[in-house]
Amino acid sequence: MANKAKVLVINGSYRDDGITDQAVELTVEALQSAGAATEIVNLRDYPIEFCHNCRECTQQLGTGPGKCVLDDGMHELIEKIEAAQAYVLASPTNFSSVTALFKRFMERLVAYAYWPWDKSYPKYRKAGLPPKKAMLISSSAAPSWMGRWFFGSVKQLDMTAKTIGAKSVGTLFTGQASTEKHRRLGQKSVDRARSLATRLIAA
Ligand SMILES: Cc1cc2nc3c(=O)[nH]c(=O)nc-3n(C[C@H](O)[C@H](O)[C@H](O)COP(=O)(O)O)c2cc1C
Repeated sequence: MANKAKVLVINGSYRDDGITDQAVELTVEALQSAGAATEIVNLRDYPIEFCHNCRECTQQLGTGPGKCVLDDGMHELIEKIEAAQAYVLASPTNFSSVTALFKRFMERLVAYAYWPWDKSYPKYRKAGLPPKKAMLISSSAAPSWMGRWFFGSVKQLDMTAKTIGAKSVGTLFTGQASTEKHRRLGQKSVDRARSLATRLIAA
């Protein structure tokens, strides 16, 4: 991938400067030093409503996302998603899943499915196109091996990547993230963030 690749970072953490924010910031620093342009969307500051399950956005054929009937920040966010060449998708693990904040965003991505009323399952609009790349970030109170294998958060981040037409280059999963109120990211996670950032924008 050429320099000045545009990387869009979508962060589903509720907290300023928690483990997710630290991992995101470090990754962004590494991406910028490697010459990429980055933009962070913190979902906690973003005006997105819940999907109404009306499926209007899924009825028209095409590789581009369908148009949602809701008039909110999702239109602008979808433009950012379409314009980016790579993604960082981040969410802590809450009750074994991505946060509700991230899930609300994820459900709005149904616009990336072609799903007419007479079909019992959707088709990914981006399937068959050359995939973009995505780096996944999650964390849990449980040790990382447990978090990665037993919780749904990484699977959900991966499904998000697939929905918007990207393939994961790897996951930064920080375990034991809440042993202190203001835990700092350990060296292992710092190294992993840097190495995945390089992989994300490699040709
Ligand atoms: C509502 C809630 C639910 C949580 N559920 C889990 C869980 O199911 N498993 C787990 O290991 N940690 C759980 N945690 C701990 C968080 O995963 C951990 O604090 C988080 O990764 C830190 O992210 P942050 O620093 O970006 O906020 C939960 C925390 C909260 C507040």
